[in-house]
Amino acid sequence: MPSANIPPARFPSDFLWGSATAAYQVEGAVRENGRTPSIWDTYSHTPGRTENGDTGDVACDHYHRRAADVALMADLNLTAYRFSVSWPRVQPTGRGPAVQRGLDFYRGLVDDLLDHGITPSLTLYHWDLPQELEDAGGWPARDTAYRFAEYAGLVAEALGDRVELWTTLNEPWCSAFLGYGSGVHAPGRTDHVAALRAAHHLNLAHGLAAQALRAALPARARIGISLNPSAVRPLDPSSAADTDAARRIDALANRIFTGPLLQGAYPADLLADTAALTDWSFVEPGDEATAHQPLDMLGINYYTPALVSHAPEAGAPRSDGHGAGTHSPWPAADTVAFHQPPGGRTEMGWSIDPSGLYELLVRYGREAPGVPLYITENGAAYDDKPGADGTVHDPERIAYLHAHLAVVQDALAVGADVRGYFLWSLMDNFEWAYGYSKRFGAVHVDFTTQVRTPKSSARWYAEAARTGSLPPL
Ligand code: FCB
Repeated sequence: MPSANIPPARFPSDFLWGSATAAYQVEGAVRENGRTPSIWDTYSHTPGRTENGDTGDVACDHYHRRAADVALMADLNLTAYRFSVSWPRVQPTGRGPAVQRGLDFYRGLVDDLLDHGITPSLTLYHWDLPQELEDAGGWPARDTAYRFAEYAGLVAEALGDRVELWTTLNEPWCSAFLGYGSGVHAPGRTDHVAALRAAHHLNLAHGLAAQALRAALPARARIGISLNPSAVRPLDPSSAADTDAARRIDALANRIFTGPLLQGAYPADLLADTAALTDWSFVEPGDEATAHQPLDMLGINYYTPALVSHAPEAGAPRSDGHGAGTHSPWPAADTVAFHQPPGGRTEMGWSIDPSGLYELLVRYGREAPGVPLYITENGAAYDDKPGADGTVHDPERIAYLHAHLAVVQDALAVGADVRGYFLWSLMDNFEWAYGYSKRFGAVHVDFTTQVRTPKSSARWYAEAARTGSLPPL
């Protein structure tokens, strides 16, 4: 870690200083211009699924406030913006031709960004599957992967002339294991075999979409995926049983994706661990090779590490913080217990430990040699409230960002090829099952008036972006 007496190292001059959001979390306008319900509309409107019954119907009303939001990013010196495209806005039934009015919103957004010199980074899927595709089987059904590739091609044709950074999926682990395993995310199913099938079809969908993008986009386009790899640690590193628990979770959290994506094969230990549940016959010959497409970038989303032990009679495993489900998201892991790591926590209850980010950057630098890394999400929720003078002070978030960006510098110093950092999130928004109760924004949003107020962390981050180095705390 940089010490107080040594001037902090500068980041590379072309390092991207970004922020991130996702369509359903910010856009609102859920019934406008032909958009149909996604699984998150259905889920959030189902009683008992989200805190307070909150939905993304209005969210940050970004759909109508797009121009002002982009101007705000420019004010904050941001050089990149990671957003996602809402599939049901562009292709409402999940098949067939694109709806031009749906594409127009994203074309306008991208034009606004480029006018301000902000690099757009487009994510095709941040969890809002068209409900019609869920009704036809959702991610556990193979056809959904083909539908996704078709949709990817439509978006590429519409925006390929002006977007260079393309991400297929955001955090397929959450889509598969929170959506179909623990059920704390849409569509809310609790079936471990369905979750494993979903994971495979997401890998296949990534590969097919990467092929479709490659075919439709100019050569300068960079195509990748954002994962949320887990920095898994055994509670007692000297215990063989705890080390094996960590291996099991590493397979289910990380290698189930990086196996096919980076090596073209599922890891043998994963198949063995889950053999009592499924024979994996849903993996057809050639699928793993299809998933194994060349990557131009790998996105890493990081918040907190995982601490596990072997427990012959494990209690309820955690649901990875995204909602307190009673079902475990982890198939074939009944003997793994999850523990709260020591140290401070954010408002999500997630422990603050930047060493996990460092570990992942070094690990994936090694496992994906030659592939540029981006931190596509990192940030913290705190209970931020405007003071009497209307300003919002969030020193804890500044400390969190400082500590995590400092380890990015450490990773750069040992040769990790990290090209950018996207703060989650630009502004407070709909935090999935937690509704509006958790605030991750650098910009405060009053959800009654939609007034945006940059927090002190936004000013701190703006200064980092301007100078290319970390301002003191
Ligand atoms: C990630 C999600 C993002 C946001 C953060 C807090 O898992 O990708 O949408 O909810 O967590």
